[in-house]
Amino acid sequence: MSETNPLVVTEIKDGILRVEIRRPDKKNALTGPMYAVLADAFEAAERDPGVRVVLIHGQPGVFTAGNDLADFLETPPINDDPPPPVFRFLEAFRILSKPFVAAVSGVAVGVGTTMLLHCDLIYAGASAKFQLPFVNLGLCPEAASSLLLPALAGHARAAEILLLGEPFDAAKALEIGLINAVVPDAGVLEHAMAQARKLASQPAASVRLTKQLMKRAQAALVEQTMREEGRHFKLRLVSPEAKEAFSAFFEKRKPDFSRFN
Ligand code: COA
Repeated sequence: MSETNPLVVTEIKDGILRVEIRRPDKKNALTGPMYAVLADAFEAAERDPGVRVVLIHGQPGVFTAGNDLADFLETPPINDDPPPPVFRFLEAFRILSKPFVAAVSGVAVGVGTTMLLHCDLIYAGASAKFQLPFVNLGLCPEAASSLLLPALAGHARAAEILLLGEPFDAAKALEIGLINAVVPDAGVLEHAMAQARKLASQPAASVRLTKQLMKRAQAALVEQTMREEGRHFKLRLVSPEAKEAFSAFFEKRKPDFSRFN
């Protein structure tokens, strides 16, 4: 298998689907067509017995800056027929039965961090920066992060991360249990690949069953939470606060939320 889109590259080798986000000039911000390629790749991986592990990464110094804010401003994914690619992608990694590995180098914003809550093994470079700026953008959490982050980090730490939306570093990500290990920046992908290879050599049915059993207690709640978050998220996307935040980003100014209650 080879390149399907220059901005998202997929390759299957030795039982590992490697997914590379490759739009470094825009900090790997994800557009609708990029989400469509990601969703297709994850859906196909779920069906393909030749895929035993899925590994996602970006470029050195950039994992992903999350959703493309110009897309949010100009073509917000608010209609459900057909489901917007971004929601197809979230659903595809929510239900992925195969182990999901991430190699995080540099910025991991929005879905760049929320997808990690659905990964099984996550390795980050020492200078990785994580951020969930949904509130800062007038939005609300997605990908069940309103459930999974407090469950992982406790309410107080999750509230700080979600309500203030400030970036945090790899050491803090490790401390709250979001990632498995901090590795030297230059070796993140290599390390994650080595771990993925170990997973691919394990008995695949046992790996899938163990993942499913570990997720079983929360599975229904995760699904419900994602649906509920998605309903609010679509409404928030066209809210005046969100429009102010998206415009402010491109005008390189601080947003002014003082006139909204
Ligand atoms: N959507 C669209 N474009 C984005 C983007 C995004 N999410 N993130 C970065 N870019 C673009 C910038 O507009 C800039 O484009 P330009 O060179 O044409 O002006 C380019 O990528 C580089 O970004 P810049 O902000 O200059 O890089 P930085 O290193 O100073 O900061 C970030 C990196 C990721 C911290 C910063 O770009 C950022 O906060 N991005 C928005 C993240 C976000 O809110 N995502 C949505 C989450 S739901």
